[in-house]
Amino acid sequence: MSLLSVLSLCVQYQTTQGTVRAVDDVSFELNAGETVGLVGESGCGKSTLGKAVMRLVPTCDGLVILDGQDISHMQSRALKDARKTMQMIFQDPYGSLNPRHNVGTIVGQPLSVAGWSRRDIRDRVTELLEKVGLPKEAVKRYPHEFSGGQRQRLGIARALALSPKVIICDEPVSALDVSVRAQVINLLEDLQQSTGVAYLFISHDLSVVEHISDRLIVMYLGRVVESGRSEDVWRQPAHPYTQALLAAAPVADPRLARRRVKSILQGELPSPLNPPPGCSFNTRCPYAQERCRQERPMLRPVNDGRKVACHYDLLEHPALPLVDAAQ
Ligand SMILES: Nc1ncnc2c1ncn2[C@@H]1O[C@H](COP(=O)(O)OP(=O)(O)OP(=O)(O)O)[C@@H](O)[C@H]1O
Ligand SMILES: [Mg+2]
Repeated sequence: MSLLSVLSLCVQYQTTQGTVRAVDDVSFELNAGETVGLVGESGCGKSTLGKAVMRLVPTCDGLVILDGQDISHMQSRALKDARKTMQMIFQDPYGSLNPRHNVGTIVGQPLSVAGWSRRDIRDRVTELLEKVGLPKEAVKRYPHEFSGGQRQRLGIARALALSPKVIICDEPVSALDVSVRAQVINLLEDLQQSTGVAYLFISHDLSVVEHISDRLIVMYLGRVVESGRSEDVWRQPAHPYTQALLAAAPVADPRLARRRVKSILQGELPSPLNPPPGCSFNTRCPYAQERCRQERPMLRPVNDGRKVACHYDLLEHPALPLVDAAQ
């Protein structure tokens, strides 16, 4: 059984303009020790999905099974215990670190909530700082005394405090300088090697997650449009949206630059208040046919663990003619 199973999860936000279905019927699994990358453009529902799995936002349907336990209907005390197994780190570590607390208090906070003694907390915090590459003297300092990369290390140390089995990483390097990104990603990879923690790694940039993920999930307007082994999806995307995301990602080898579809993501993301009928990508898809405007494609298996929600996926229809998406 998977460490984390998410089944048909839905999240709705009520806004003054109407209902936004930010996460719509999303299912996926995360196994112990693996990394699953979750990608998609801004606003497609990645953070909402991460928070819903953590039960930080209410869901309107679906189940979250963590380590064999259904946490979707747990009340606060049981949920507090379950949360030790699963932690989250955020894009903006500064926003999530209380500026008035020193590092010892911040990193030790989950331990004191769990009832650890002061002495044990002190020892564990020293150990955690070492694990994330910070000196033990950091314990008396305050968040503003650290660089962005160091603050993200503090966020990681706090997330690791209770030895979770899952960490949901919500764009943990997006706010960092390019030069620091690789260091933080390497740290996360090293920690995975030494602790066996599993990551759900959220990013809007496919090139960031591709090489660290075992599997990828691609979301568009609240729904999963493709999932599969990372290298398969990267080498041969099945969904036109994945192909477009790849085309937008920087590639080292210019021969691989998929210029053909370079421009298609310039079209606007439809309003999530009013998603298009049929396939939600049809308004921007260079291959859209009449059927795509009428009938929503289900997420279906295509080969070897790959799933795609497209009537004319690029594995089975590699030579589909391009049409003018603006029509
Ligand atoms: N608290 C909220 N109230 C109402 N609508 C919200 C709320 N939070 C998010 N949304 C809407 O839900 C949708 C999904 O947002 P979400 O933040 O999950 O996307 P995202 O993929 O994480 O985007 P980004 O890459 O910008 O972080 C968007 O349409 C967003 O406007
Ligand atoms: Mg987000």
